[in-house]
Amino acid sequence: MSYAIVYSSRTGNTALLAQTIRDALPGEGCVYVGAPSQEALAAETIYVGFWTDKGTCDAPTQAFLQGLTHQKVFLFGTAGFGGSPAYFDQILARVKENLAPGVQVLGSYMCQGKMPQAVRTRYEQMPDSPRKAMMLANFDQAVSHPDAADLDRLKTAVTE
Ligand SMILES: Cc1cc2nc3c(=O)[nH]c(=O)nc-3n(C[C@H](O)[C@H](O)[C@H](O)COP(=O)(O)O)c2cc1C
Repeated sequence: MSYAIVYSSRTGNTALLAQTIRDALPGEGCVYVGAPSQEALAAETIYVGFWTDKGTCDAPTQAFLQGLTHQKVFLFGTAGFGGSPAYFDQILARVKENLAPGVQVLGSYMCQGKMPQAVRTRYEQMPDSPRKAMMLANFDQAVSHPDAADLDRLKTAVTE
């Protein structure tokens, strides 16, 4: 089985997931690892990693997914907001809207990913409200992710 790992990552969280997949799969059969590129299209299976931007995958990943025709994909991603499988499902549903009908989704995995400190500073400047408290609590919860347990779950998802 030939495969490629294509991922987009601004601050390293999704890159960590991509590295975990790379380590979990046999080196043989791997045709490409890196940023979205035409080079990956030759693979039968493509592991596609994204970071969440405005409730869906980042723009380079959207463009890449729209270019697929018949390949099998495994989607993986990180999002700043976590704690709710329903939220991840909603994001994944939007991500899948970029796929042509001939593309088969073999599986998917998402976990929370830490955000830059500047985001917390911005939250801190908001007037006090339940929403502000929720945003700060979520930010603090995200700080340790992706953690070892997140990466173990991903490993299981790609090897089972
Ligand atoms: C411009 C921008 C927009 C974002 N929008 C969302 C969003 O809509 N929902 C969400 O859960 N996280 C959002 N995030 C958080 C990132 O998706 C999250 O931190 C992710 O793990 C970053 O992955 P990376 O380290 O691979 O770049 C956003 C981050 C940035 C910088």
